[in-house]
Amino acid sequence: KKANKFYNEPLLDFAVKADREKMHKALADMKASLPVNVPAMINNKEIRSEKIFDRVNPSEASQVVGKISMATVEHAELAMQAAHTAYQTWKNVPAEQRAALVDKLADIMVRDRFKLIATQVLEVGKPWAEADGDVAEAIDFCRYYARNMRELQKPLRVGGLPGEVSHYIYKSRGVTAVIAPWNFPLAILAGMVTAAAVAGNTVVMKPAEQSTVVAWGLMKMIQEAGFPQGVINFLPGFGEEVGEYIVNHKHTTTIAFTGSKAVGLHILNRASQVQPGQTHVKRCIIEMGGKNAVIIDNDADLDEAVDGVLYSAFGYAGQKCSAASRVIVLDEVYERFVERLVEAAKSIEILPAENPKSYMGPVVDKEAYDRILGTIAEGEKNHKLLFKAHVPSTGFFAPPTIFGDVPGDAKLAQQEIFGPVVTVIRAKDLDQALQIANSTEYALTGGIFSRSPANIARVKNELEVGNLYVNRGITGAMVDRHPFGGYKMSGVGSKTGGPDYLKQYMEPIAVTENT
Ligand code: SER
Repeated sequence: KKANKFYNEPLLDFAVKADREKMHKALADMKASLPVNVPAMINNKEIRSEKIFDRVNPSEASQVVGKISMATVEHAELAMQAAHTAYQTWKNVPAEQRAALVDKLADIMVRDRFKLIATQVLEVGKPWAEADGDVAEAIDFCRYYARNMRELQKPLRVGGLPGEVSHYIYKSRGVTAVIAPWNFPLAILAGMVTAAAVAGNTVVMKPAEQSTVVAWGLMKMIQEAGFPQGVINFLPGFGEEVGEYIVNHKHTTTIAFTGSKAVGLHILNRASQVQPGQTHVKRCIIEMGGKNAVIIDNDADLDEAVDGVLYSAFGYAGQKCSAASRVIVLDEVYERFVERLVEAAKSIEILPAENPKSYMGPVVDKEAYDRILGTIAEGEKNHKLLFKAHVPSTGFFAPPTIFGDVPGDAKLAQQEIFGPVVTVIRAKDLDQALQIANSTEYALTGGIFSRSPANIARVKNELEVGNLYVNRGITGAMVDRHPFGGYKMSGVGSKTGGPDYLKQYMEPIAVTENT
């Protein structure tokens, strides 16, 4: 019997020749099999539609990676019915059996690791190491939630009055609609789906259009692991059509969403409209955006600070809700820090994600590219441009860009860009730095580089973020070590990869017996 202790799946090291060669082979194999035809899967059966969406490689826009059969609302209805029917039996499957299936899914991911990485490199333009991080995180979510479920299934004895025995237990809720983003295409999707399913719920998952091939890979592994039919259904399609449909559906009890603030708030609004025949108040687990700040104190170790900011800002082209987009630098150290940041940014290798030397690849699609370039152009009109890189022209490469002396209340310093754009803001002291840092509507990640224990203590108390990082980068939360998620306008969910996450997919029940 497997020990129930959690450990993080170690990351690959592509400096090791054998792993590098396996990665090259996985990429070559994947390219030889393109495009991948992706159907919907309902009740473990493939379903195709007339409407085909071509997903292209963002590093090489002429290459079609996936031909996606976009589900219609009729398919969405079938998926909801399948999940509703399957729930009647799945809810009675013992937690240990559900956890064992999720552990098996993790084992399949370990076996297929290189293929899973290759799919992300080609479909969403993630450089190798970052794609590996995403796959490792998906494995971690499976194992963490499986272990957590084994603990939570144990009834908790509460109270102690003689003549009365009370237990606190968790029950599943019903059909869960999972709506996922493309930026952590396997990890976030797998995290929401496995949390829902291991807790005894059934699932209709709607992946982001941009990462449907990755999501299809997950669906096939779920099928191989042996989840009964209808427990997890796969509905590729457009958010406005099938996403909207499953959010509104009377059988949906829980909605797990990660994505933009606009869509998250729209879902909350729709979920509050009770449908005829609806039996549950819909619960929303919503993770949205960030406008994350790093404070650079006067006594910061600038080598560490430059490195940490660079990766937090430009890793995966800034397309992380955790990314650093504001750097608030204390006056005394401002010029020195900025000079070094710009020098370091010049050394970034911007290459197709397939190239193992790529530090930064493309952004996800043409729409993102146009939006980010528009933001940069507007920024150039209104602010001081410190750096803008030259980029390849084969795909959707947005240039890493740094603006300096941006006022804390400027649009550029307030709105989430979701691209490789950093605004550097000057502050006269820590008071002002904290005031600027807390002046956005978001509260997701944030950090400080400082050698002063008193300043670090103040930031721990006063910086309004869900994940605070001291003297390190502010992205790359690890399951269990850094339970992840924000508050204010960044979300209403409790932290992924943390001890409260699974409970959101369940209903706590108190059972009291008069003895
Ligand atoms: N969990 C990711 C990170 O920490 C963001 O979703 O970077």
